[in-house]
Amino acid sequence: MSDTATEKRRGAFSSRAVFIMAAIGSAVGLGNIWRFPYVAYEGGGGAFVIPYIVALLVAGLPFLLMDYALGHRFRGSAPLAFARLRRWAEGIGWWQVAICVAIAVYYAAVIAWSVRYTGFSLSKAWGDDPETFLMEDFLQRSPGVSFDIVPGVLVPLALVWLVTIAIMALGVQRGVGRTAAIFIPVLLLAFTALVVQALLLPGAATGLDALFTPNWAALTEPAVWGSALGQIFFSLSVGFGIMITYSSYVGRKNDMTGSGLVVGLSNSGFELLAGIGVFAALGFLAQANDVAVTEVVASGIGLAFVVFPTIISEAPAGSLLGVLFFGSLVLAGITSLVSILEVVISAVRDKFELTRVRATLLVTVPAAVVSLAFFSTSSGLSVLDIVDHFVNQYGILLVAVVSTLAVAWGARALPTLSAHLNKHGSLRLGRWWHVLVGIVIPVALTYVLVQQLLLDLREPYEGYPTWMLAVFGWGVAIVALVFGLIAGRTRWRAGTEVDGYDPERVPEEAA
Ligand code: ALA
Repeated sequence: MSDTATEKRRGAFSSRAVFIMAAIGSAVGLGNIWRFPYVAYEGGGGAFVIPYIVALLVAGLPFLLMDYALGHRFRGSAPLAFARLRRWAEGIGWWQVAICVAIAVYYAAVIAWSVRYTGFSLSKAWGDDPETFLMEDFLQRSPGVSFDIVPGVLVPLALVWLVTIAIMALGVQRGVGRTAAIFIPVLLLAFTALVVQALLLPGAATGLDALFTPNWAALTEPAVWGSALGQIFFSLSVGFGIMITYSSYVGRKNDMTGSGLVVGLSNSGFELLAGIGVFAALGFLAQANDVAVTEVVASGIGLAFVVFPTIISEAPAGSLLGVLFFGSLVLAGITSLVSILEVVISAVRDKFELTRVRATLLVTVPAAVVSLAFFSTSSGLSVLDIVDHFVNQYGILLVAVVSTLAVAWGARALPTLSAHLNKHGSLRLGRWWHVLVGIVIPVALTYVLVQQLLLDLREPYEGYPTWMLAVFGWGVAIVALVFGLIAGRTRWRAGTEVDGYDPERVPEEAA
């Protein structure tokens, strides 16, 4: 099939600019806004710059380029790209597909909470005790484990799914591409306004001081290097098939390495901006309550849904700050959720002869049902926390190790992939890239994983009951892997070029 016919069937981005926007939209997500500031602060503040930049240059960007090379050269979703690389590698792509399903179902829930909190910001609905409000009034968290429906979460979550399904059904360019092209500039404006407002608050400088004062001793702790790596992988959206999928939608003549640099640096730039905005606001809160910044800093859910509401209640023009903060979480979250689901839809479309709308419904309706069934219940928060932790460690990081080993050592494809990127890029990849992808990344990630595994085996994660960790933690991670192994052995529909696929056979006009 010619390139044009394939593009017509699979969908494609209309230009490199749209591809870059979509890739930035995927990278910039909840991880940048609520995870980075805390990880940076915990990891030595100013000193964290070193592990962060090392992780970005040594692991994040080289891995991103490997994803780009696979998707762009083999022009397929993650399973198809891996199958075209080597037939035995297909399962890695399906493993990534399963990981994306697990992430999507809880990621949507956090976006739904942010939708509600955008509204709550106007009336400061949480009163004087945002923590009790979050746990008891909003999430209705039960002391034991129960799965009672919480309507206050169910409705916005259903809404998030409806919007996302509509975007996905519109297709690669009209849905995914256009959403990113609209949302990302709006997000940048909203978030910049938030940072400016936060910097003008009294006490902002104290917060920045806390964030940027280097604690060099932190650099001797392996855990800090591990968290820098984990942050980079989740934040750049590498290792779970997204960048493979997106780069399969971009024309052959594009500069892939240049695009990778733009995406990577934009993502880190946004992360820095988030760190500044969040810590300026934390500085204000610390000063207003006459305590040290350490006393008010928190991560993830605690930061976004407890500490930020407190800041919003106390700051001048707090409602505006709240709408900007939670609105930014919604915008950043939707463009990332869309990219996570695209991995699954693209894989299903490549494997079966389905129209875009059918594939979208086949993937998103069951995902939405699972998402609603678990995350709009009184145990939603616990399940979310467990799935998030285990899928990140034993999903994303583990599949990342396996894919570098498969590409570099199993298929011995690094020379071919670097030649491909050199033909389609402004940055020349030499042997240094082979060493990073083939040796440094798998060794570093394995080290991090083993450390984490020992920790998780020694004590139950966050003290959750063993059965919950077994089902939603280990269980989900293992099912994703097993699904990959099984799905990787299924047949392709007739007419799909897998074994005989020749990436060099390109029509003149597209070469
Ligand atoms: N890259 C996305 C994030 O940071 C998944 O949230």
